[in-house]
Amino acid sequence: MCGIVGYVGERMAIDVLLDGLKRLEYRGYDSVGVAIASEELKLFKDKGELSKIEAQIPRWKGKMGIGHTRWATCGRPSKNNSHPFVDCTGRIALVHNGIIENHLSLRKQLEDEGHVFTSETDTEVLVHLMERHYNGDAHAALMAALSQVKGTYAVAAMVEGDDRIVVSRKENPLVIGLGVGENMVASDVTALLSLTNRVLYLLEGESAIVTAGGITLFDADGNKVEREPSTVTWTVEDAEKGGFEHYMLKEIYEQPTAIHNSLLGSLDEIYAGAIIPDIEINSVKLVACGSSSHAAMVGKYIIEEMARLPTTVELASEYRYSPGTGESPLTILVTQSGETADTLAAAREARQRGCRTLAVTNLVGSTISREADHVFYTNAGPEISVAATKSYITQLMAMYLLGLRLGTMRQTLDRAEVRSLSNELRSMPRYVSGVLDRASEIEEAVDMLAKADHIFYLGRNINYPTMLEGALKLKEISYIHAEGYAAGELKHGPLALLDANTPVVAACVNDHTREKMLGNISEVAARDSPVLGIGVEGDRELEAITDA
Ligand code: F6R
Repeated sequence: MCGIVGYVGERMAIDVLLDGLKRLEYRGYDSVGVAIASEELKLFKDKGELSKIEAQIPRWKGKMGIGHTRWATCGRPSKNNSHPFVDCTGRIALVHNGIIENHLSLRKQLEDEGHVFTSETDTEVLVHLMERHYNGDAHAALMAALSQVKGTYAVAAMVEGDDRIVVSRKENPLVIGLGVGENMVASDVTALLSLTNRVLYLLEGESAIVTAGGITLFDADGNKVEREPSTVTWTVEDAEKGGFEHYMLKEIYEQPTAIHNSLLGSLDEIYAGAIIPDIEINSVKLVACGSSSHAAMVGKYIIEEMARLPTTVELASEYRYSPGTGESPLTILVTQSGETADTLAAAREARQRGCRTLAVTNLVGSTISREADHVFYTNAGPEISVAATKSYITQLMAMYLLGLRLGTMRQTLDRAEVRSLSNELRSMPRYVSGVLDRASEIEEAVDMLAKADHIFYLGRNINYPTMLEGALKLKEISYIHAEGYAAGELKHGPLALLDANTPVVAACVNDHTREKMLGNISEVAARDSPVLGIGVEGDRELEAITDA
């Protein structure tokens, strides 16, 4: 994923930019570049990791600059395709995240006018459009350029000899960090935290002029607007590895704290109606992508069980293509980042369909949190490792809390049930710590999975989406092919794929699906597949039919 940083102030801009770019490295990238605008524009960009090319980057003295980490989408990773892009006069520099859909027709027009392109990217048209419109006002030139493009963007640009970074966003995040006598911009708040925790999130379509002395903010129609900055409660340390070998491990171990923070205050807020007011709700639709969609599937079981409300789950990437039923369910958008394009599009579509929307998100100030009617923050803290771990478990907490709220509103849960469920939730950090304490046993058990090429994950009922999540995580992290299945579906085809080289991970807990799950595990074992069972401690029956 691409990353943007920009700095204007009293320090050597190059140092601040390189620090910011390093903090964005976790997002993955293939090229990196910086431009410094002092009296004349300086540019360095190349393919490869920052650590390998940093020594070649001159330490220019300029106090304003922009930088970028690129994850190639349009045009292969190469020096020329890296950002920043510079116009034909060599005076304007620009970095961009997003996609310019009409870049080919714009490029043709610009080439006909004599503009010379140096890359294969969609982004480069933006800097040439700015050049076409530049008349001494960088902000006006950027606005004019953006008015001609179709697509999405977070963009930062600057002109040699000027003292302004100009920025705008559409469907891609951009945040301004407010310092004293210095300001910064970035696509991700993590890049700003070493400078400041006072931030202004740009809203959809907004633009801004950023100088060392202040910010001028404009709405999507170009009118000046004022907004109070937000304070980010995450620290730089929160966003760093904290002694763990890698971020994912750190974030796995942060789960008990994340659950605790997620519950903190939420139980009270939930009961006080702060998150879902007393409104009539006849049905619920949960909409999300990836891991968040698995949390949403878990949410369906919980809401149907606790609140007896008809609940459906839809992938956000599919939602807008469905015709809708004419009904207006409470539509719950689950998204860790609050910035996933398909989920944002689904939220907008839901509102158009007359649905009340509730965002379940981790990021305060994210686009979804501003666009939804109601917001539930999961408070998991920054998730640097990209793979959802602590954010997923806090989404599950959110589903339980929403189930409790809807169940109390509809009086499908009595007081004793609410008390007992709330107490169980409060015990969750302790339960999760108990599992983490057994990491070495788990490490031994997964040996049987490490050499496999294909692995099946099986579960029933509420554990089925958790098995889908297990399989997704394995694919994403280890590049081993894994499939999650509802255990009862195994006999309808996939059983044929099982043999001694295809291990199975099976969730079998003490609920109404237990007997059936034990039967499924026996079926699998009969085909010689090694089975790793996930169950309740001391379950001898499960232990007897599994290998680990
Ligand atoms: C997998 C993972 C992704 C995200 C998905 C949605 O580990 O992290 O599948 O869950 O991209 O992202 P959010 O929740 O930010 O909308």
